[in-house]
Amino acid sequence: MAVRPIITHPNPLLRQKSKRIRNVDESIQRLIDDMVDTMRQVQGVGLAAPQIGVLLRVIVIELPGEEVSALVNPEIVRRSGERLVEEGCLCVPGYRGEIKRSEKVTAKGLDRQGKEIRIKGEGLLAQALEHETDHLRGVLYIDHLESIDKLYRIGEETETPEI
Ligand code: NI
Repeated sequence: MAVRPIITHPNPLLRQKSKRIRNVDESIQRLIDDMVDTMRQVQGVGLAAPQIGVLLRVIVIELPGEEVSALVNPEIVRRSGERLVEEGCLCVPGYRGEIKRSEKVTAKGLDRQGKEIRIKGEGLLAQALEHETDHLRGVLYIDHLESIDKLYRIGEETETPEI
């Protein structure tokens, strides 16, 4: 297990589409472990593989006080509602932006054993599922800003978690 460096905008890797995984083998399990280590090191609540420069469809999410979830080939199969959120991304350090996200999201994918699972979430979990799956198609939250005045520079004291 290892902490890997996080790449930052405007690194072009963040704009690429990630590849589907055919077999959830040991190399993918190692990648998941490294992603969890990296996410914890930077106190993020989620991480997508492209954020460490790996263009594979893998995301991990760990909300405060909850179990870690890993999802391989995640797909959002249902979304409902809409809410305004303040969002930040580990790849866009020093900024937060106000964007719209769904209230509730259902995602499906494979767990670290390659078994099909579904994750249903609302609030921050729904937001993280949308944010991380966006990363897999080369989309950053800043692409969802209605205008540039919805993007703020922030100091270190902010409480908005990064994903
Ligand atoms: Ni992000």
